[in-house]
Amino acid sequence: MKGNSPRPDYGALSGAAYSSKINTPAKNPDYFRKFHLPLLEAARADRPGQRVVVADVACGHGYELEFMRGFLDVDLIGVDISARVLQTSTRERLPDARLIAADVRCIGKSVDAGVADAGIALNAVVYEPVHMLGALMHMLRPGGRCAVNFRIFGNPYNDAFYEYYARQGGKISDVGITFERGGMRETFVLKQLDYRECTDPDIRKLDRQLYFTSSDDRTYRSTDVLRLIELTGFQVLGEDTFHFSSPANPDNEILVYTLQKQGQAATGT
Ligand SMILES: C[S@@+](CC[C@H](N)C(=O)[O-])C[C@H]1O[C@@H](n2cnc3c(N)ncnc32)[C@H](O)[C@@H]1O
Repeated sequence: MKGNSPRPDYGALSGAAYSSKINTPAKNPDYFRKFHLPLLEAARADRPGQRVVVADVACGHGYELEFMRGFLDVDLIGVDISARVLQTSTRERLPDARLIAADVRCIGKSVDAGVADAGIALNAVVYEPVHMLGALMHMLRPGGRCAVNFRIFGNPYNDAFYEYYARQGGKISDVGITFERGGMRETFVLKQLDYRECTDPDIRKLDRQLYFTSSDDRTYRSTDVLRLIELTGFQVLGEDTFHFSSPANPDNEILVYTLQKQGQAATGT
């Protein structure tokens, strides 16, 4: 989406509006227990007795990191492009977290490589999928794990979500995104949901979001998701579905991948 990148301004969306209008599995204790808690447990097992650093890429208001706020051996890092949200709502929720206003498209300018033992990207790959995965890869130490969710277009469970926004003026079209590294270049065609003409002014601020499409009418998986994960350099440790209810759809099905950055996990001394 070069030259056509979304510039979502969540700064104008209050925490209350975000909670009541946005279709995120954040704040869901079942999701946390199923996908995020195991990341912490794996990191603790890798380096017994050491502190665990968790990075949430595109953390927004910080609802997901809040689950870990009371964990005495855990340090939290939240990264988001919206400085305004970080400085107000997220800071109130997470007084001790390291909050970094940064664009994942140039994460290396703001965050050192390998700072985190575990990573989270919740409803994040809808913006800049290539760079969200790239930011996790950058921030994780070798051997570190992360969990990333995808809402696959074409999965009948998610039809209600797209139909809800189409009724409100959202437009769906095909858009190409490109992964480029060294001499390698691969393009993926995704569905873009453009909210900019939606009737609700809060929803218009979501700008444009991207969704991978199903390549299998039985499982509703996407070979493009797996290919992008592979190109980024992650190994897939687990793949599971998760169902949750949201303002636009009473039964969303998202795919959640647990990924590991290749390389030797550093052992503690
Ligand atoms: C749908 S919200 C998800 C927020 C949070 N993870 C949750 O589930 O509640 C997407 C977030 O991505 C952030 N974002 C969008 N583009 C970004 C970019 N290029 N770099 C960093 N953050 C970005 C937005 O500011 C927003 O907070």
